[in-house]
Amino acid sequence: MSTLVLGIESSCDETAAAVVRDGRQILSSVVHSQASLHAVYGGVVPEIAGRSHLAQILPVVDAALVQASTSLEQIDGIAVTNRPGLIGSLLVGLSAAKALAWPRGIPIAGVHHIEAHVYAATMERPELAYPSLALVVSGGHTALYRARSPLVLELLGTTRDDAAGEAFDKVAFMLGLGYPGGPAVSKLAESGNPRAVRLPAYRSREAAPSFSFSGLKTAVLYHVRGQDARNPLPPPEAITDRADVAASFEQAVVDSLVEECLRTARREGLQRILVAGGVACNRRLRLEMTRRASAEGLEAIFPSPAYCTDNAAMIAGLGFQILSAGKADTLALDAAPR
Ligand code: KG4
Ligand code: ZN
Repeated sequence: MSTLVLGIESSCDETAAAVVRDGRQILSSVVHSQASLHAVYGGVVPEIAGRSHLAQILPVVDAALVQASTSLEQIDGIAVTNRPGLIGSLLVGLSAAKALAWPRGIPIAGVHHIEAHVYAATMERPELAYPSLALVVSGGHTALYRARSPLVLELLGTTRDDAAGEAFDKVAFMLGLGYPGGPAVSKLAESGNPRAVRLPAYRSREAAPSFSFSGLKTAVLYHVRGQDARNPLPPPEAITDRADVAASFEQAVVDSLVEECLRTARREGLQRILVAGGVACNRRLRLEMTRRASAEGLEAIFPSPAYCTDNAAMIAGLGFQILSAGKADTLALDAAPR
């Protein structure tokens, strides 16, 4: 007997639904991105996000069921992101999950978005053993965990200011690139020299791991605009070393992520580094983390790019683990922004 879980994700600017068998086999994964709605504002506008989720949630769930050649009658559990995220957005997914589950008596599981990102790194690797070091690098989070099991993550350290993805998005804005900025900066960086622009590198002074990207972001701002805050940002065509700036910034972020992961893995005696979240799509990060980890006899594991950014397959997968552990929630399940 296999177990089918429907996953629902609406914590930020992606409306997503997926059907996953036995916590690993992805039968469908549908993601509706709102990026074009938020692009003009250079970031996610919570009110617009909530309204768009409301319009998209049921069509996206239907599409996921159809693509998996199944129906709600065949679904054994519904997993839904209930924390953390934009409250108005979370509530749309949560309300939909309850409305679909209640009349059919389907059990529901509330899923932590960050824990689900980590789980995504293990979905394609069923043999993977715990404990592992887990790095979550997304638009909202940059944090290191000791993952003891899919459901037990201990926070080891986090960013002191911006998330890595947020820094990518802000630098993209300075360089006149669109939102979301990560893929655009990364693309431009391919034609630049990563050693051309000297940028500050943050290193944690304590034993505990930490990250910081706001100094780096400000250094990029000073480089393109000058130090005088009264100066406007130059138009993109006036930034003659745009590709070099993008490459040097990307290199600095990657160096800091890789070094802090390797240092922490050594310190914690962990052999595997799981890397998850939208920034885990970054090619330079994937290459350098893999190369430098293997030089130390460690293994770096990344999900396929489609499962690095927000998706509902990771929600359904972790939801299966929660339901299998007998930890289903009741319909009193609430959303929590933090
Ligand atoms: O995980 P995610 O989809 O949403 C959050 O939970 O935040 O991550 C989105 C973030 C954005 O900041 C985006 O710019 C970044 O991931 N990102 C990238 C790349 N692809 C997406 N950053 C660097 N390089 C990429 N290729
Ligand atoms: Zn995410």
